[in-house]
Amino acid sequence: MTYQHYIHGEWVDGHGTETFESENPATGESLGEFHRGTEADVREATAAADEAFEAWRDLSHIDRAEYLWDIYHELKERHRELGEVVTKECGKEISEGKADVTEAWHMVEWAAGDARHPKGDVVPSEIPSKDAYMRRKPRGVVGCITPWNFPVAIPFWHMAVSLVEGNTAVWKPAEQTPWCGQIIAEMFEESGIPDGVFNMVQGFGDAGAAIVDDDHVDTVLFTGSAEVGHEIASEVASDPGKLAACEMGGKNGIVITEQADLDIAVHSAVMSSFKTTGQRCVSSERLIVHEDVYDEFKERFVEVAEKVAVGDPLDDSTFMGPAIEAEHIEKIRKYNDLAREEGVNVLVDRTELDDEEIPEGHEDGHWVGPFVYEADPDANLRCTQEEVFGPHVALLEYSGDIERAVDIHNDTPYGLAGAVISEDYRQINYYRDHAEVGLAYGNLPCIGAEVQLPFGGVKKSGNGYPSAREVIEAVTERTAWTLNNSKDIEMAQGLSADIKTEDG
Ligand code: UN1
Repeated sequence: MTYQHYIHGEWVDGHGTETFESENPATGESLGEFHRGTEADVREATAAADEAFEAWRDLSHIDRAEYLWDIYHELKERHRELGEVVTKECGKEISEGKADVTEAWHMVEWAAGDARHPKGDVVPSEIPSKDAYMRRKPRGVVGCITPWNFPVAIPFWHMAVSLVEGNTAVWKPAEQTPWCGQIIAEMFEESGIPDGVFNMVQGFGDAGAAIVDDDHVDTVLFTGSAEVGHEIASEVASDPGKLAACEMGGKNGIVITEQADLDIAVHSAVMSSFKTTGQRCVSSERLIVHEDVYDEFKERFVEVAEKVAVGDPLDDSTFMGPAIEAEHIEKIRKYNDLAREEGVNVLVDRTELDDEEIPEGHEDGHWVGPFVYEADPDANLRCTQEEVFGPHVALLEYSGDIERAVDIHNDTPYGLAGAVISEDYRQINYYRDHAEVGLAYGNLPCIGAEVQLPFGGVKKSGNGYPSAREVIEAVTERTAWTLNNSKDIEMAQGLSADIKTEDG
């Protein structure tokens, strides 16, 4: 069977004739066939979402959240099963596959729980007879475009708060992870959410582009590559009234000072660089290490990178699963080659794994291991500036104080996540106050943010509308509401309310 789109409460083939397959990146096996959505399918979905909006917004937050609570319970009950689906479809090792599902139910819990929390502010007025409030209204139809690397969690970052706040949604899952998309859509169907409130169109970038330029769409939420995100942000900027919240990648750094506990430093760096095979937007590709601890850190980090377990992601003893697809392996290889051409000193090169490292039956998987090198932080190299989205890591040695380390840290066009490893609170606080990132950590890896924190970056990494809990800013409009309790009209700022006529 070929899986379908979910539009206006119906499973439909759509208008297109093409289909595509979901591939297990660890084995190359097909996991299912899916209809490829077209612009016409997106138009139908956004029209359905627009039609459903009026009735949906009229429900209370609490009634809307009820549908999400059903999904919360289902995500929890199906934890292991769905974790395996995530692992099979995007290649993250099983603890990560399960954590993705956990992060999804945390987001649903936050959004649905928030339905019973106070909304807005009561604001004092200059005039005692006036009551002033800040209230929020849903913006309308929210278009959601999500990445493959968190195929269950990130859709809920986008949709859980959006729906509870009273918006309707049209979602395009990543083309690499349509099976996760199918399961989430089935959950919405089973929750009995009114027709048209949630819609899903499977497909590629053309379907995403159709969401972005659709007149029914009021907010576009995008998490993915900087290249696509910047295109979306500039296209939406020319459309007054439409808003885009774009969360993109990074060239994230970890500063390891001369005051670092090196156990914490090595542990944090390995987690940040190699978890998810370096394919998190918060993964670290730059380790900025003080000269006093450089040699020891290098030796210890290289030792782990040489032997970190790459293999079957369903096996509990694996640390790194495969990369997502063949084209991505090509990209990682090109950057590893580029680093060599740029004259860096390569310390670990597991770009091509040995045959015995590839688990049996997984010969057609997309395998790549760590690539670690040392480079001059002042050399202005492309390999230390551009995001690879893989296990490609530069060691950048510095001398001098924390100010110098943070200068190197900030010398990238991106600004998503970063960390400082130090036992000196002054160094930690300097980093906290000066690192140009949206997510900053002390004595921790720079991955693994919790959903109750805003998730977002600065510079090329984001456009200022954080996701996770604070997606609320992008999917609601604020109304400053003032009510007069008096029969007289009295104005603030000393403005006269007297009507003066020519006859006095
Ligand atoms: C991503 O990197 O693409 O902070 C999302 C983290 C996860 C989300 C990552 N909660 O690592």
